[in-house]
Amino acid sequence: MNQKRTVFQKYIPALVLLVTLCLSFSLQAQDGKALFNNKCASCHAIDKKLVGPALKGVEDRWDDKAMLYDWVRNSAAVIKKGYPRAVAVYNEYNKVQMTAFPELKDADIDAILGYINTGGAKKDEGASTAAAGGADKAGDDDANLLYGILTLILAVIALILLQVNSNLRKMSDETEGTASAEPIPFYRNKAYIAIFAILLFLGGGYLTFQGAQGLGRSKNYQPEQPIYYSHTVHAGVNQISCLYCHGGAQESKHANIPSVNVCMNCHMGINEYAKGPKIYREDGTEVDGTAEIQKLYKFAGWNPDTKQYSGEGKPIEWIRIHNLPDHVYFNHAQHVNAGKQQCQTCHGEIQKMDEVYQFSDLSMGWCVNCHRETKVQFTDNKFYSIYEKFHEDMKNNKLDSVTVEKIGGTECQKCHY
Ligand code: HEC
Ligand code: HEC
Ligand code: HEC
Ligand code: HEC
Ligand code: HEC
Ligand code: HEC
Repeated sequence: MNQKRTVFQKYIPALVLLVTLCLSFSLQAQDGKALFNNKCASCHAIDKKLVGPALKGVEDRWDDKAMLYDWVRNSAAVIKKGYPRAVAVYNEYNKVQMTAFPELKDADIDAILGYINTGGAKKDEGASTAAAGGADKAGDDDANLLYGILTLILAVIALILLQVNSNLRKMSDETEGTASAEPIPFYRNKAYIAIFAILLFLGGGYLTFQGAQGLGRSKNYQPEQPIYYSHTVHAGVNQISCLYCHGGAQESKHANIPSVNVCMNCHMGINEYAKGPKIYREDGTEVDGTAEIQKLYKFAGWNPDTKQYSGEGKPIEWIRIHNLPDHVYFNHAQHVNAGKQQCQTCHGEIQKMDEVYQFSDLSMGWCVNCHRETKVQFTDNKFYSIYEKFHEDMKNNKLDSVTVEKIGGTECQKCHY
């Protein structure tokens, strides 16, 4: 018998099924995320209040699913019908009318709810993601892990089915009396070996990738700090210059975190948080800014009633977020002062972050790519006066720009000790 043909006949459909299943699953989840980000994220986050409520667990709050669908398509109609949750949430949010989305079908809303239940499990709040310029957050990793596990389960099921199938075939061949080819033992069956190898490759690759990322690289890292200090309130709303607190970035290697004294310059006077917008933690609970300022006083050893220092202050142990490995040399002044790079290019829109997270992955590829692409502001920059030849060439129109790479920015020893 033509062994090759049967092998193909047997495995191709199963594989096709497997692949489509995986794809359709991930597509659906993707759609939910895209829909959420396009239509809902401007007003909703999963874990915290924005304009509207945090949507986590919303299905538990709406026992009537049809009402929930109708709400998304036209909330006013549901309020008119007097559905209790609708009326309650409408009043709670000062009768702000939610946008109507008549174009969304039940399946679309299911996809959004699905994304809310899975993709947004941890800290994937669409709005702040969009605000931070599309930095993808941890939710993606969770989703990837989920797909990985699902793929594995499906693959195992497919293998079992294939085994059953081939046994049945053998049995039927035997009953029919067909002289079947010598049965191939499991471990010598080429198709099994191929599938096994692919699985091993994918699994191994995934784990290695995760491991490599874990080695000091931690994009999106966002630890909880000893004081809930908001960059939105300080650098955003109150427009305090980054350099007021991180002056080091202008003239030295380190940007530095300000000491308690710097905070107290202002907070000897400002002892309550009253004027700024409401601020929320990741889990949606509101931050009591005044209580946080009290924490600052504890660290400073400041008595707000007597307006005196007790002398029992201690430094605030801020948890460090950005951290390059020891073998890499990075200098802020070189980038901020000589290179004229904006803080935001590397750190994202810090002035819109309540809690800072690591925006860039700080990988070698990230540094090198920027050095290849970025043209230095060559003329009228005292740092580049030593490059006489380049200046000559530019004058003679032989050269129209100088990238960081040209001045040595991709040489190993420039970045490595
Ligand atoms: C323009 C802002 C805005 C947009 C866009 C928006 N919503 Fe809302 N949503 C609100 C507000 C505000 C409320 C609170 C109720 C009210 O005031 O009407 C709300 C309430 C809800 C509720 C009820 C929550 C609860 O706790 O009971 C659901 C569900 C909901 N929105 C889903 C969505 C979905 C899904 C989308 C995207 C397709 C979306 N919303 C887009 C503003 C918005
Ligand atoms: C009033 C003081 C103050 C101002 C103004 C300020 N910061 Fe900060 N910054 C801090 C403090 C305190 C921390 C440490 C706590 C934290 O991570 O939130 C910090 C942390 C950071 C970090 C993370 C440091 C780490 O551990 O890796 C970055 C990046 C940063 N700031 C950038 C900026 C930028 C950019 C601006 C201007 C848009 C700015 N900061 C304005 C006080 C300030
Ligand atoms: C240049 C002045 C200035 C400096 C320096 C400053 N703050 Fe503030 N801080 C403010 C202002 C203004 C507010 C908002 C007050 C309001 O809106 O009522 C504020 C609010 C706060 C709040 C409440 C809101 C929030 O972010 O949680 C905390 C806590 C706080 N500051 C801590 C700090 C710490 C810690 C430092 C030092 C790293 C610091 N501040 C340095 C001016 C300053
Ligand atoms: C070219 C990219 C780049 C630019 C531009 C940049 N930073 Fe950084 N920043 C980094 C890197 C990389 C680190 C980690 C440094 C390390 O681990 O040694 C860092 C670390 C920090 C830290 C943590 C403390 C420290 O000194 O290591 C703060 C605070 C900070 N940056 C603030 C700023 C501010 C404020 C600006 C703008 C004035 C700025 N950065 C501009 C890349 C940049
Ligand atoms: C946003 C773009 C950008 C990123 C990201 C960036 N750099 Fe740079 N880098 C520059 C610019 C612009 C200069 C030119 C400044 C100068 O001439 O000193 C520069 C210069 C340097 C130099 C001096 C090169 C020379 O020939 O003197 C070193 C070293 C360096 N960068 C290290 C790093 C490291 C390490 C990282 C990653 C952790 C990094 N840079 C990430 C833009 C970037
Ligand atoms: C513009 C700066 C820059 C230049 C130029 C550069 N590196 Fe790196 N390199 C880095 C950074 C940043 C890391 C840390 C990456 C991380 O933590 O993931 C790194 C990491 C490494 C590592 C450790 C492995 C790893 O991925 O963590 C090796 C090995 C290395 N570099 C070799 C080189 C060699 C060889 C060259 C010259 C061809 C070179 N580097 C040029 C910035 C640079």
